[in-house]
Amino acid sequence: MRHHRGMDLRGANVLLTGASGGIGRALAAALAGGGARLVLTGRRVDVLEPLAERLGGGTRAIAAGLADRAAAERLLDEAGRVDVLVANAALPASGLLADYSITEIDRALDVNLRAPIVMAKLASARMADRGRRQLVFVSSLSGKAASGNASLYNATKFGMRGFALALREDLRPHGVGVSTIFPGFIRDAGMFAETGVTLPRGVGTRSPEDVARATVRAIERNVAEIDVAPLGLRLGARIGGFAPVLSAAVQRRAGGARAARGRRAGHAGPGGRTAREAVATNPDLQVIIRKRPP
Ligand SMILES: NC(=O)c1ccc[n+]([C@@H]2O[C@H](COP(=O)([O-])OP(=O)(O)OC[C@H]3O[C@@H](n4cnc5c(N)ncnc54)[C@H](OP(=O)(O)O)[C@@H]3O)[C@@H](O)[C@H]2O)c1
Repeated sequence: MRHHRGMDLRGANVLLTGASGGIGRALAAALAGGGARLVLTGRRVDVLEPLAERLGGGTRAIAAGLADRAAAERLLDEAGRVDVLVANAALPASGLLADYSITEIDRALDVNLRAPIVMAKLASARMADRGRRQLVFVSSLSGKAASGNASLYNATKFGMRGFALALREDLRPHGVGVSTIFPGFIRDAGMFAETGVTLPRGVGTRSPEDVARATVRAIERNVAEIDVAPLGLRLGARIGGFAPVLSAAVQRRAGGARAARGRRAGHAGPGGRTAREAVATNPDLQVIIRKRPP
């Protein structure tokens, strides 16, 4: 089968992870609006079930904790036929590696990277040669440019990018498209918005609905990669990609001292309620975000 140019969402069965999150809820609405039949997953059934009810159209909710290594397989079995997988669930995984226990490192890797890989394997095996199908991975601009205080998060989001690009080539002959979405700072809802941090002047944000629109476009046109961020951040991420040492030096000059102060003042470690994270896809950007326990 030839490489496909996108698929129609109408009537497609979509499995969406992280549906209970800020971006996930917008994704669910947009996918349902496009006529898809949804299976929503996450751990919080109290969020998923009312959302499924509101969306109607046969939307189902399945609780699954993706740090559990057997969960992805169970989830795929329960979901039934999957035409589109949107792997959106993730932990913020911010802070210093030194503050993570090995168990916590494993959990971040399992949720952010292993689960999407295993789900992609299981879903694509069932998709191959059934006509146009799509896998979508929600990465981050942190999957294109690294920054201090985010080594684990960067590892998972960079890993996701390499995985998706290679898989896109491998699945091409089978009619299965692969897309990756790279959001910058997302306002209103989600893991960044929840921190309540004000960004420096000139650093723009995008909405969860923008991420959702990009995801629908990626599916409908089988686009390989879409950034969801203003131009400045997209350029910052690009520089971080091709000149990482220079980018790190600029970030260090611009905000290293402030970040160090932030870490001393408030980093509670990966198991604690808060962590301080310097997010730097923009050279003079230092933000502090609140992090849920993993
Ligand atoms: N918000 C941003 O500014 C931003 C920027 C760049 C990239 N992103 C990416 O966008 C995606 C969505 O993020 P968000 O902002 O919507 O974050 P969020 O509001 O914190 O939502 C995270 C989602 O992941 C799920 N999740 C977390 N741990 C899980 C686990 N162990 N098992 C199963 N599900 C789990 C959560 O569901 P439960 O809690 O119900 O389990 C929730 O639905 C993530 O991949 C994130 O890295 C976000």
